[in-house]
Amino acid sequence: MDEILYDFGTGRSDPSTFPVAALQAAATKVIAEQIEPLTNYPGGLGHEGLRRAMAERESSREGVPVDPDHIILTNGSMQAVTLTAEALQVDKGDTVIVEEFSYPGTLSAYRSLGYEMHGIGLDEGGMRMDQLEDRLQSLDAKGKRPKFIYAISTYQNPTGFVMPKARRLEMIDLAARYDIPIVEDNCYADVHYEGEVEPAIFALDDNPQHLYLGSLSKILAPGLRLGYVLARPPMLDKVLARRHDAGSNVLAAAIAAEFYKDGISEHAAVSNPVLKGKRDLLLDELQDHMSELCVWSKPVGGLFIWVRLPDDVNLKRLMSEAAARGVKYLPGISFHYEFAKAPYLRLAFGHLNHNQISLGVPALTAAIQACRTSNEPVAFDSLFD
Ligand SMILES: Cc1ncc(COP(=O)(O)O)c(C=O)c1O
Repeated sequence: MDEILYDFGTGRSDPSTFPVAALQAAATKVIAEQIEPLTNYPGGLGHEGLRRAMAERESSREGVPVDPDHIILTNGSMQAVTLTAEALQVDKGDTVIVEEFSYPGTLSAYRSLGYEMHGIGLDEGGMRMDQLEDRLQSLDAKGKRPKFIYAISTYQNPTGFVMPKARRLEMIDLAARYDIPIVEDNCYADVHYEGEVEPAIFALDDNPQHLYLGSLSKILAPGLRLGYVLARPPMLDKVLARRHDAGSNVLAAAIAAEFYKDGISEHAAVSNPVLKGKRDLLLDELQDHMSELCVWSKPVGGLFIWVRLPDDVNLKRLMSEAAARGVKYLPGISFHYEFAKAPYLRLAFGHLNHNQISLGVPALTAAIQACRTSNEPVAFDSLFD
């Protein structure tokens, strides 16, 4: 087994900004003061204080009112992904629209549920609406109406791209024309580095068909396992009807609610600049080492950089050549909705320190070079053909 020295594999938060003292103080306070909720089952919606804090988070970012009673707390947003897919499913074999490259956890949940996935191509603005329209038309001609469209429109995983507002409005329009709910996964919201923040779909369209997924994993820590669904009636009841676990962890929710009682911005102002520094360093290292070899995304938020590899790289060998040099990454194939071989890899930068980023990139570069069949410089025009 090769030792992993440079773990670009998992989208984790930054350990150096984990707010130890503040969370300890919050835990001490809520354990003493919240004996009643802590000694009870929370029920379907979950801890009221955290629902209020997350309603405030969404409402202040998006500028629209959010009702805390429309928030269902979950065990990470991954449970929200699964619950919503179950709620919208009628039969095995139902169709769902996803981005061609998407979060492997979601793809694997949809596969397990027996959904037939249709992947829509991506470009620098996220899911392509021309392709979505063509696919909805061709499915309609076969009498098929997808049960929903799943989109990570902001800091997309794995590409990091953000869908511009105009395209979001097009998606809303297409969804309305074909009467299809949108499940908007915004788990990277607030991991924002620069530029305009595009509005969430739920803020652009109050159609109660649409569902919205949020998380605390990326702004605070994935070990808390705190996520949520924002659903308006009657969808709210449909999602709640799938839930049989008596609600999610009250202690974690109560601590997070206390920690965020004055909003999420104070901690984001500490953690985002640290993450941005790592993103900047990774971009600089890629420029220094790989500019004649690869192209990559330049995300304005989130935790990932998506790298396009030369066509002559042996993708299977690359995993082991990289591992032999201590480098872990996730290969393009694991993000493809049909596991198609794809000359891409994803680099997660949230958890590594600067030294690891600076040493990891040349090690990965050497592995890529070792797996090519030529030494020709590569001149791609873009990440996508
Ligand atoms: C797009 C997306 N959705 C959902 C999740 C699940 O996150 P969590 O369950 O930790 O909230 C992830 C995790 O990486 C993700 O990238």
